[in-house]
Amino acid sequence: MEFVHYSCEDGNLNGLHHRFIQPPQIAYFVTTCDRYGNMNTTPVTMGTCIAHNFFSFTLSNLHTNEAQWDLDKNDWQDGIKQGYANLREVPECVISYFGHDMIKESWIAGCPVPKGISEIDVMGCTPLPSTVVKPCGIQECPINLEAKVLHVHKLGKRWVNFIVEIVHGTVHKSLVEENEKGRLAGYGMLAMDPVFEVMIASGNTPETKNYRLYYDRLDFDKIERCPEDIGYDADWIGTFEGWIHDEVGHGHITAAEEKRALELKKLWEKDRNPQTNAAVKQELTSLLRKAVGK
Ligand SMILES: Cc1cc2nc3c(=O)[nH]c(=O)nc-3n(C[C@H](O)[C@H](O)[C@H](O)COP(=O)(O)O)c2cc1C
Repeated sequence: MEFVHYSCEDGNLNGLHHRFIQPPQIAYFVTTCDRYGNMNTTPVTMGTCIAHNFFSFTLSNLHTNEAQWDLDKNDWQDGIKQGYANLREVPECVISYFGHDMIKESWIAGCPVPKGISEIDVMGCTPLPSTVVKPCGIQECPINLEAKVLHVHKLGKRWVNFIVEIVHGTVHKSLVEENEKGRLAGYGMLAMDPVFEVMIASGNTPETKNYRLYYDRLDFDKIERCPEDIGYDADWIGTFEGWIHDEVGHGHITAAEEKRALELKKLWEKDRNPQTNAAVKQELTSLLRKAVGK
């Protein structure tokens, strides 16, 4: 197998394509407001749910001058993301998931609309008053999540990451019903046909020479279950003991091998040094490979 190496330790990717780092990400809106109550909607894909009711997203700023990060001293100016400036003034936002039917609106929201003018108005949508936070949501979006900023981290020279906590959710009733008993029951937002940002590029023809964003969608017929005969049966992760026991039931290992696996785990736990306990590590790894049919 051949490999291409990229050294990125100087803070530059040095040829490592950004899309090898950023997978296709679901797109959503982040609506914020300034101290006067002017709304701003930023389409975002760099970020995702990071734990149940916690969400993380990253905004990039065009200026690299360190002083311009400190909005206590410097008010907003061109090149600073309006969403970023607002979040420093009012640390609350609404995350609005949209579906394929709002591709055009998402592109409009990404246009450089002057600060203080609401993208929701420009793209012809309707504000959805929030219950807890100051920024509004978007009525046309099937899911609106009100959130409060918990942590702000500067990343490199251009990026700032926000970790927010969801404090209120508003979901179209039709989506809730679909999620309960429709064809895509349990898949949550998939039923609204979300779009995933895959690339920003110009096209190959004179008509498509402008830089545009490319989206992909999910093919619901390709959703696939992980194999039935590998893993803990009663839950989706489970314990080591339960998992190994179930692999006997799956016919991958014998009861004697199950017993040996439990012994090996104990021996390995006593000393996780790969040099001094190499034989135990190797035997346990081999048994696990057998247990998963590899
Ligand atoms: C689908 C889509 C996804 C985007 N994702 C991000 C992102 O993750 N982070 C970011 O800083 N900008 C992102 N952008 C670009 C911003 O939305 C764009 O620069 C916008 O004009 C900034 O808005 P603001 O200055 O009102 O905050 C995205 C744009 C689009 C259309």
